[in-house]
Amino acid sequence: MISKSTIEQVFETARVEEVIGDFVTLKKSGSNFKGLSPFTDERSPSFMVSPVKQIWKDFSSGKGGNAVTFLMEHEHFTYPEAIKYLAKKYNIEIEETEQTNEQKEEANERESLYLVNEFANDYFQRILLKTDQGMAIGLSYFKERGFTNDTIKTFNLGYSLDEWQAFTDDALKKGYQLEFLEKTGLTIVKDDRQFDRFKGRVMFPIHSMSGRVLGFGGRILVTDKKTAKYVNSPESDIYHKSKILYGLFQAKQTIAKEDNCYLVEGYTDVIQFYQKGIKNVVASSGTALTPEQIRLVNRLTKNITVLFDGDAAGIRASIRGIDLILEQGMNVKVVMFPNGEDPDSFARHNSLQELSTFLEENSKDFIQFKAGLLVEEANNDPIKKADTIRDIVNSISKIPDPIKREIYIRECSYIMDISEEVLFSTLAQISKKEHQEANKNYKTEQRAFNVIKHEKPTKKINYQYELERKIIEILLLYGNEIENFEDLVLKEDETTGELNLEPVVHKAKVFEKIYLDLQEDEMQFSDANFKTLYYSIIDTLHHSEDFQLRDFIGKLNQDMANEVTTILMDDERYRLHDWQRNHIIPKEKKESISQLVTQTILSLRCFLIDQKVVEYQNETSNPETNMLPILEDIRDYLKLKTLLSKKLGKVVGS
Ligand code: CTP
Ligand code: MN
Repeated sequence: MISKSTIEQVFETARVEEVIGDFVTLKKSGSNFKGLSPFTDERSPSFMVSPVKQIWKDFSSGKGGNAVTFLMEHEHFTYPEAIKYLAKKYNIEIEETEQTNEQKEEANERESLYLVNEFANDYFQRILLKTDQGMAIGLSYFKERGFTNDTIKTFNLGYSLDEWQAFTDDALKKGYQLEFLEKTGLTIVKDDRQFDRFKGRVMFPIHSMSGRVLGFGGRILVTDKKTAKYVNSPESDIYHKSKILYGLFQAKQTIAKEDNCYLVEGYTDVIQFYQKGIKNVVASSGTALTPEQIRLVNRLTKNITVLFDGDAAGIRASIRGIDLILEQGMNVKVVMFPNGEDPDSFARHNSLQELSTFLEENSKDFIQFKAGLLVEEANNDPIKKADTIRDIVNSISKIPDPIKREIYIRECSYIMDISEEVLFSTLAQISKKEHQEANKNYKTEQRAFNVIKHEKPTKKINYQYELERKIIEILLLYGNEIENFEDLVLKEDETTGELNLEPVVHKAKVFEKIYLDLQEDEMQFSDANFKTLYYSIIDTLHHSEDFQLRDFIGKLNQDMANEVTTILMDDERYRLHDWQRNHIIPKEKKESISQLVTQTILSLRCFLIDQKVVEYQNETSNPETNMLPILEDIRDYLKLKTLLSKKLGKVVGS
């Protein structure tokens, strides 16, 4: 684990505008920076970065947060990956805690493997582009396949010299240890001799999602039946074939943006698609898809489109893997390429427009596709047909969403010409069996999740909402400041019974003042998010003298962080679009925080009183009610309201 002090140091050092500036072109705009949203395809900038608050807000997608959350959203880093990235950027040494010596050694060993791969990656690229043999053989091969210089650079393509140990010698000379060269598989050690694994091959480095080189694929240039076309790095501490998708590093942003991922088979399919302009594409590298690989995509989108070559032989085998994708709740489509074409050749021989249109017109929903395929096969063979029904219903049973399952059953009934009843009862059989086997908790969780998912959050945009929001904003910005508050305490005149206000001045922290006032009124937030935020801010302020916005935001879940950054950057948004603000909310002035606080709370009180009065009025329309006490209550409330309004007038006017 990364030590707390390292994390703190990273947070103190990292400047949100510098971190984001590496990914988004930012222009100064007042005290902020603005730019085009990296999360949507917009034309006019609605992405704001505040160096003062050290936060960012994307008004077009609603996302927002601090420097770390930006990296998590944009680069899809995990939290530790984001911290490590920042530590590297700002030259902060990473201190690890709670590591046994063994763990330390392991971490060091993995790091050594990464370093060797990084060296090899640079080496192979240099050989490709800067040596005679590299250019004559490797580079001309890539050119023949139609790869541009940009593409070669984007995918870090390289070449390994056709010599027994050219690479190994160079690495050893540069001080890399044979132990790690062997463990990464770059060098094959036999007794006291060493060989380059990738001798005479063009090189395809395989990156992790965050861009580190995990291993390589090397393609032979001459077609020779005796040697494998591709040689890949062997499994190691850093290279696990089943957890890697080729091209994911280059594709991840487009996958998130397009909300879809194309899945192909080979390295060259990925590269050719990317070069043509379809960048949301990854390859399983010729093996059956694994749950880990699907999970990688699932972090970015719920939609996968699987592309099949024109040869029908492989399809049956590949189709089985697709149930795994359904199981993870993803939506699967499939595209069949014309006979004799694969994604590589098709992309190469068609324009981007043609390719896009083809994909659009030929992508079929997976279940429908499978049902159609099976129906063709099983025609006129009743026994086969029974198997087929089980097969398709089995796929449907993998879908976690019950509504989707039902829709598919109806569709398949139509496609396969079988009654819905038969399909439903088959589904029930399979589900029951599964249910008995599967972990119960998981299913329950899944069901609970479905309920939440279907519940649409309704946000009340009204006066009360705005005032509650203002209170959150004040707490976030000024919660810890000490202010003089002039409180007017309500006193009832003993003889006349009139209510009067007496001024009392006292010093208090802003958050204490708000907390006590709201408690006195037994005020409850009507907005669920605000309520959660309110208690967590009060709690944090209560426990720490030094309240840091960006730290607070860092600890919130993404939903709450989005909410908070919206509140904090709201002024910027109005400035951004040059809109006139609605005048229901008091103006914000740093010089008179106490005024702002008092005014907001008073406004909220007035509002709540109005609500009460309306409630009473509704009651009086019922002829059964005893009018007298209610009228008295109303009168009291109205009196209070007059007093509060007077006070509010005084605050606003001063
Ligand atoms: N593959 C492999 N080892 C092999 C053959 C294939 O690892 N001996 C993997 C590679 O990741 C390859 C993918 O399976 O990219 C698909 O194989 P294939 O279609 O044969 O290769 P292509 O990527 O199409 O390569 P090319 O177009 O250069 O023939
Ligand atoms: Mn191919």
